[in-house]
Amino acid sequence: MTQEEIDFFDRIAPTWDADEIRSTPERVTTILSRIGIRRGMRILDLGTGTGVLIPFLSQLTGPEGSVTGIDLSDGMLDRARAKYGHLANVRFLKIDFEEELIPDKYDLILMYSVYPHLHAPSDTFEWLFKMNMNADGYLVVAFPADEEFINNIHHDRKAEHEHLPSAGRLAAIFRSWGYESEAIAETKDEYIVTVRRLVQ
Ligand SMILES: C[S@@+](CC[C@H](N)C(=O)[O-])C[C@H]1O[C@@H](n2cnc3c(N)ncnc32)[C@H](O)[C@@H]1O
Repeated sequence: MTQEEIDFFDRIAPTWDADEIRSTPERVTTILSRIGIRRGMRILDLGTGTGVLIPFLSQLTGPEGSVTGIDLSDGMLDRARAKYGHLANVRFLKIDFEEELIPDKYDLILMYSVYPHLHAPSDTFEWLFKMNMNADGYLVVAFPADEEFINNIHHDRKAEHEHLPSAGRLAAIFRSWGYESEAIAETKDEYIVTVRRLVQ
């Protein structure tokens, strides 16, 4: 992340929860119900922001599991910690997940409303799968909206990877990088793509 990006997220952090109207509890619950979360999972929430997913993930994995929320914006992390720092199975870490090593391995790595912010998605996936993914683990790229909605928010962005393709097209791109990948939702309210290691 550049300092400019960190400053941007610090600036919008105070109003993020009020402005992020698409992540209603109902929509978040529906999206998470589609991605196979089981009790006891170790879950990594990359770009956790103010922790929009955290209470849901904490409950779904239960006391035998854990949730690690990662972000680089102090503005976002301070809010996440204030709201959910008391949950026993939750921790927050300040890390640039594209540049720094994340501790431990996980069963599920989530990127929720985060993918267009990546600078080097294919390198980052390779690194995450190598360093942080358990053998049967999988990654999920998700949004509470379709690509048209997301691209309208990011209309000033020029780099190719910053333009979000349809979920089906993104899954095909991940397959071309050597993963198993499937678009499991492609509607106005749900965009979900799963990514797994290719079984040889
Ligand atoms: C659009 S917000 C989404 C936040 C949250 N997932 C949500 O849906 O409310 C993207 C978040 O990803 C974080 N982020 C982006 N790139 C990052 C990186 N390389 N390392 C750590 N955090 C990053 C930003 O700081 C920001 O909080």
